[in-house]
Amino acid sequence: MAKGKTTVFFCKECGYESSKWMGQCPGCRQWNTMVEEPAAKVLPSSQGKAGRGDRNRARPVLLSEISLEEQDRMKTGFEELDRVLGSGVVAGSLVLVGGDPGIGKSTLLLQVCRNLAADGKQVLYISGEESLKQIKLRANRIGTVSGELRFLCETNVETIQEGIQERKPQVVVIDSIQTMFREDLSSAPGSVSQVRESTGVLLQLAKGLGIAIFIVGHVTKEGVVAGPRVLEHMVDTVLYFEGERTAAYRILRGVKNRFGSTNEIGVFEMLEEGLSEVKNPSEFLLSGRPEDASGAVVACLMEGTRSILLEVQALVTESNFGMARRTAAGADYNRVNLLMAVLEKRCRYDLGRFDAYVNVAGGLKMSEPAMDLAIILAIISSYKDRPIDPGTVIFGEVGLAGEVRAVSMAEQRVHEARKLGFTTCILPKLCLEKMKQRADGIRLIGVANVKEAIAAVL
Ligand code: TYD
Ligand code: MG
Repeated sequence: MAKGKTTVFFCKECGYESSKWMGQCPGCRQWNTMVEEPAAKVLPSSQGKAGRGDRNRARPVLLSEISLEEQDRMKTGFEELDRVLGSGVVAGSLVLVGGDPGIGKSTLLLQVCRNLAADGKQVLYISGEESLKQIKLRANRIGTVSGELRFLCETNVETIQEGIQERKPQVVVIDSIQTMFREDLSSAPGSVSQVRESTGVLLQLAKGLGIAIFIVGHVTKEGVVAGPRVLEHMVDTVLYFEGERTAAYRILRGVKNRFGSTNEIGVFEMLEEGLSEVKNPSEFLLSGRPEDASGAVVACLMEGTRSILLEVQALVTESNFGMARRTAAGADYNRVNLLMAVLEKRCRYDLGRFDAYVNVAGGLKMSEPAMDLAIILAIISSYKDRPIDPGTVIFGEVGLAGEVRAVSMAEQRVHEARKLGFTTCILPKLCLEKMKQRADGIRLIGVANVKEAIAAVL
């Protein structure tokens, strides 16, 4: 940075720093995301000190000297959340909960605070967005609150730091990081440097005092407020709360987790009295399924360690224009195009004249290749206008030669299908051959290629 220069430019998406303005951020390749901010005067690089906590302990240790008991995990009272976190929240960890405004982040964390307080933990909920009255109104909706749960309306990070050091709670919630500010920085709350430096202070508190801190971060599309991606690299765990605001259910997805796997999801439903867990998402996702409609099939996918059944729908209609339209909701658009090309080339279906709309019912976004075969059969079912037996579950990856390839955890998928009363399962032949135990009560049809699969169901 040039001497005497008092402003720098930050990308509000990824936090990339530059001394001059640029149309495209070199860090994340987004356009028009650079914002000008005053250069920070004091930058004691709080990130560098992070994780050390005790400054005198610069003595290297042997692996055998490290006890794992320190890493005690607290149950949040929501199994769905605990699983995404990796069986509970770790003391001394920093968890970022991101999501669109109004999706239910404050509600979720208030309920978590309530559960933890009822479990005998000391909890502090710091809100920079709402007044104590508003919090009380929300708390009244979610039910009775007992135990050591305290609230504080504050946005000054130094004051918050003092408060936390004095009270030493076990769990702290910061709602939201975009409202917090440090007095010694001249930029406005919500700017990249404020969001980063405030998180730096919280990080030191979490590691130094062994407090689990949840940070709320709004995902922002417009304006000069920095998004949660700016601090993804500083925190231990990043969770995103997703879902259509109009739909009742919400999905909690792990994006980064230093204490567990990241491919787990948690499913919640927003009710009048707060969020409630959806323990069996398959039943939920399959409710309201049309019987005997063409173009609707059930696929079995894995989300982390859990198998989920969901409905894949396709609508294939003759195109009115020269160019056929294709859309994919909940599935990857390019993948759908690829699968249609496989059908044209390998099975000689003339789909070029047809529009195709593919939709994963329930609004889940799925990218597992095991959904390929279900998409293909849904398209052909709609194309031929012949329904597939509603008691059929389909899974398998499709290759460019039209072959059906094996996928992982076939036994678990079949088990889930049988549990929900399905009578037939179309699966890759290789999976069927490798299966040690054939489940009874469900007919298993192994297919080696797309043609065999079509012949088996239509
Ligand atoms: P909120 O937690 O305030 O969202 P965020 O903190 O992510 O901005 O949730 C807001 C929405 O949730 C609001 O539209 C009202 C709805 N809601 C319910 O449907 N039931 C409830 O019990 C509560 C507390 C909120
Ligand atoms: Mg909120």
